[in-house]
Amino acid sequence: MEDYIKLTVEMIRRGYDEKKIRSKLPREMADEIIEIARARIRAKDKFSRSDLWMDMEGLRYATHEIVAQYRAERVKPESIADVSCGIGIQLIFFARYASEAYGVDIDRRKLFYAEKNAEKYGVREKIRFIHGDSLSPEIVEQINADVIFSDPARPPQMPERRLEDLLPSPLQVYEAYRHKTDAFIFDLPPQIRREKIPWKGEFEYIDLFGALNRLTFYFEPLAKAERSAVLLPQGVRLESDPSLEDIVQWSRPLEYLYEIPQAVDYADLINELFHRVSGTLYMLLREKRRVLATSSEELRSEYFKRAYIITGTTKFHPVRINDFLRKNGYGRATLRVSIPDSAYWSFRRRIESGLKGEKRAFVFQYRDMAIIAEAL
Ligand SMILES: C[S@@+](CC[C@H](N)C(=O)[O-])C[C@H]1O[C@@H](n2cnc3c(N)ncnc32)[C@H](O)[C@@H]1O
Repeated sequence: MEDYIKLTVEMIRRGYDEKKIRSKLPREMADEIIEIARARIRAKDKFSRSDLWMDMEGLRYATHEIVAQYRAERVKPESIADVSCGIGIQLIFFARYASEAYGVDIDRRKLFYAEKNAEKYGVREKIRFIHGDSLSPEIVEQINADVIFSDPARPPQMPERRLEDLLPSPLQVYEAYRHKTDAFIFDLPPQIRREKIPWKGEFEYIDLFGALNRLTFYFEPLAKAERSAVLLPQGVRLESDPSLEDIVQWSRPLEYLYEIPQAVDYADLINELFHRVSGTLYMLLREKRRVLATSSEELRSEYFKRAYIITGTTKFHPVRINDFLRKNGYGRATLRVSIPDSAYWSFRRRIESGLKGEKRAFVFQYRDMAIIAEAL
């Protein structure tokens, strides 16, 4: 099957149509081969290997390799069980550090892919794969591990983020395995309210390439702080520190703008970040997808997502913005504004209309004002 998958990847890359591709494959396996091949092509930025086994759903759910490596290095478990292992990426990285690991999944195909992937990464020997419901007593009985990990599946349309809706539910995993260990790690939807979590431990929010990627909850024995934010791939970490005085103050836009990473915002660590930055920083704006600070000084910090110099302000109206951009030699504009995706392109076309300059502007909205800035 491996050779057929490789051949199919090649055929898709060369632009063969599906009928022609199918004609080269054994009929009963064609659907699966094509899906794996498509997933491999789609996965190119997620994993360092291009020969992994997965379907599209497995790929979508899979932990990004950079996150998997970070968490494995953080936990370095002696033994661990991933009780909803999917195609096995997080499990494999844990297994690199552990001497013994278990991978459980209710979906036989996913478990088969996880086994194949463990082979590719050279950790197959260390892992015991078990097919079935990880909540069932027969499976619980087979597992003896220091740490229980679960990255549960999320039903797509969950009205409110609740532990009960995750599969398997962390509440049930805890009940099933609490007599075995007190060290659990759960992946949770980052939007979930922290008050809903009935255990003591650490909430770790991870940004990957500038966007919020994960919330991991570590039970007390594994916790290092109450809340933390991690920026990957840089590997920068910020922890909550209740002893710090509150130094966050607000201001109107000054000369520079600094974008605060989402993970820092979600973890409520803005005050901690302000303490880390040397220089005077003020808060400007805090909305769902964007948090901006401002300063009259040019500051450098690995905790900023991006830094900008403000080149002007005008009324937040496409004609006025376009006018400003034209007069100041801009050729392109990127909108950093919370408007619906459907309105984004028409708004951008209007503000970029007739621009001939070389420079790129970043446009922010602050109340009824547009802030025009350039990246530092
Ligand atoms: C989000 S995926 C895990 C992805 C994995 N961390 C990775 O890196 O590939 C969740 C998995 O939980 C499995 N699952 C759901 N309910 C389960 C149960 N009761 N027992 C075992 N596995 C379960 C699903 O089949 C799915 O593969």
